[in-house]
Amino acid sequence: MAPTALICDTQPWKDLKAHVGDIKKTHLRELMADTERCKQMLLEFDGITLDYSRQQATVDTLKKLQKLAEAAHLKDKIERMFSGEHINSTENRSVLHVALRAPRDAVVKCDGKNVVPDVWKVLDQIKDFSDKVRNGSWVGATGKPLTDVISVGIGGSFLGPLFVHTALQTDPEASKQAKGRQLRFLANVDPIDVARNIAGLNPETTLVVVVSKTFTTAETMLNARTLRTWISKELGPSAVAKHMVAVSTNLMLVEKFGIDPKNAFAFWDWVGGRYSVCSAVGVVPLSLQYGFSVVEKFLSGAWSIDKHFSSAPFEKNLPVLLGLLSVWNVSFLGYPARAILPYSQALEKFAPHIQQVSMESNGKGVSIDGVPLPLETGEIDFGEPGTNGQHSFYQLIHQGRVIPCDFIGVIKSQQPVYLEEEIVNNHDELMSNFFAQPDALAYGKTHEQLLKENVPDHLIPHKTFTGNRPSLSLLLSSLGAYKIGQLLAIYEHRVAVQGFIWGINSFDQWGVELGKSLATQVRKQLHASRAKKEPVQGFNPSTTTLLNKYLKESSDVPATPTTLLPNI
Ligand code: F6P
Repeated sequence: MAPTALICDTQPWKDLKAHVGDIKKTHLRELMADTERCKQMLLEFDGITLDYSRQQATVDTLKKLQKLAEAAHLKDKIERMFSGEHINSTENRSVLHVALRAPRDAVVKCDGKNVVPDVWKVLDQIKDFSDKVRNGSWVGATGKPLTDVISVGIGGSFLGPLFVHTALQTDPEASKQAKGRQLRFLANVDPIDVARNIAGLNPETTLVVVVSKTFTTAETMLNARTLRTWISKELGPSAVAKHMVAVSTNLMLVEKFGIDPKNAFAFWDWVGGRYSVCSAVGVVPLSLQYGFSVVEKFLSGAWSIDKHFSSAPFEKNLPVLLGLLSVWNVSFLGYPARAILPYSQALEKFAPHIQQVSMESNGKGVSIDGVPLPLETGEIDFGEPGTNGQHSFYQLIHQGRVIPCDFIGVIKSQQPVYLEEEIVNNHDELMSNFFAQPDALAYGKTHEQLLKENVPDHLIPHKTFTGNRPSLSLLLSSLGAYKIGQLLAIYEHRVAVQGFIWGINSFDQWGVELGKSLATQVRKQLHASRAKKEPVQGFNPSTTTLLNKYLKESSDVPATPTTLLPNI
């Protein structure tokens, strides 16, 4: 296929570049004074309200962004994704995470075959297995119920499930289902993470779920072998069959590892790692903890957004608008970062998950056709729940660099608290900040205002807030499993929209490979130096010096170690 033109060479891109000057001249204070504009920049869909009036954009900007979407063939690209075309061209794969949350009677085709029945076959298998573990008909090797689960996985096999688990933990319906059960996540290859995970757990009552799309990821496989040793040391090697199950696309390697393929839950290469929380990757651990019916609601929430994304007109389409505004902020206004600020402690793991979804997807240097890009793609995502973030990095956001912010608030708290002597309830207190911060960023505080407040002259520059700092607000009606699914899908699709506009492949991740292969070289060297006293060679002077220091100062590590597990 002939390479497609770079988006930055199109007329709509050039028009937007020319438009930047008009916007930079206008302060958000002026834009916010236009009531009609503010009304137009409010969108509601299925319990979610988006207010993007505090973006440095006018109605005209939005029209120009719609033209950019046309130039990028956004509609066509979304359709190609939903119809199972191999849009992940460098890996020759479809991108069909939407099929994972499709209802039983939906049709989603991959290479001409409807994959929804396959998806539901695995979902039914997970329901059956998790019911058995939860009701005690699947027990451990010594006959005890398995009340504790350690999910071993990293990246997409960890961050999404952790986000959803953390969000469900305090939801009344989900937490009722989780009574007496624990779910932990072992991701880092650091043995300290092993220690933390097994601390206080008894192998007799623990089920380990090894989650790896490839079943080759070094960190996950070493952690899985470590927990296999932990189990078999205590309960004997035959206990592994009852205490370890797997989630993978590579069932051959699962079997080779020693896990019965009957106890493996499959998914497919058309599910990218960072888009896999709705597959067995998330559904197995979450169903074990909360029961399948709660997880089903999470899947339906994601599907509600999938349908909206694929059918709503762009001007009323949440992920499309969010994606276009992000492109506007990054590529035209020149803001390279984005803060994700949920005013809900339950969403504390949302930003870390979106970091992978966004940065692994869109941090690319070439177009989908391999042409080096004359523009920078992706953005630096970070975030913390409000109000904690306010007491940490908000200083920089208010008076330092301009960082577009996503404020995410919830109308009804999962855990309301009222105290009769307080003027507002605890959630109102939290939400007072959610409503105040976007205005503080947009309006700022002027010299004149400070003079009126009799602020001493020498402090005026320090107490001035320039304002004109963009943000958007997402207000969710509540935060149950369904809403969590919606929130996830909104961000997944927003990231895809950005990638589609930039003309990159948002679904591969070649950038993670180089570091992995260099670590292999170091691993070999460490083994050779410890076991055979071989000198460090083949590295640059800096790495050689550090490796020699490391080896010398850890010379008490035995050359042929006997098994040692954390003692905590
Ligand atoms: O970090 C690279 C990566 O390939 C991610 O894309 C993926 O989520 C993670 O490693 C884990 O991979 P796997 O599920 O195959 O163990």
